[in-house]
Amino acid sequence: MEYVCFLYSKFDAYLKEWIGIILDRVKKPLVLIGMMGSGKSYVGKALALKTGVAFYEMDLMIEEAQGCSIPHIFETHGEVYFRALESALLAELLEKGFCIISTGGGVVMSPLNMEAIGKKAVSVWLGADVPVMLARVGAGEGRPLLLQNNDPAGALEDLLNVREALYSKADIHVSNNSDDGTEPVTEEILLRTGHKI
Ligand code: S3P
Repeated sequence: MEYVCFLYSKFDAYLKEWIGIILDRVKKPLVLIGMMGSGKSYVGKALALKTGVAFYEMDLMIEEAQGCSIPHIFETHGEVYFRALESALLAELLEKGFCIISTGGGVVMSPLNMEAIGKKAVSVWLGADVPVMLARVGAGEGRPLLLQNNDPAGALEDLLNVREALYSKADIHVSNNSDDGTEPVTEEILLRTGHKI
């Protein structure tokens, strides 16, 4: 009988720990990181629809708040100014509890952003092969770091080489090469992040 009680108390402790982990996770924002053209916005919107929580597309929010496009912000104020707006917005969104946040591809370049994401969110690195990402971004419209460059493919590869180690710090890594709907990738993300319970 003593042994049964011991086993039960062990089981009870594990159960509480597991529920605690799950509850802790579902309270946090789910943050999508990854390169331009990896599908963060598309997949993010689908995740929000599936879970019924708010969706925040950071680039779009910055454009709305500034009243102009991202390339225009880069042109008139420079990248450093854009990165400051991006970091301020990220810090604000990370306080929103469970929601879906689609970041801009360069958000990982700031160690402070990475630290905040690590503490306050469940992060998902959405990866895709370079040719797939290139096909999605086309001529780089809306992406100053590609537009400024006359070799968008080379520019994308160079950025990926610099950022890959940072993206890989995400809690989970998901490949998003297919353009045939978002169902498999959203299912995988919700299952693996513990949001599907
Ligand atoms: C950037 C990616 C863009 C946008 C800006 C800079 C980057 O967002 O934030 O052009 O540094 O990779 P997407 O990843 O949504 O294209």
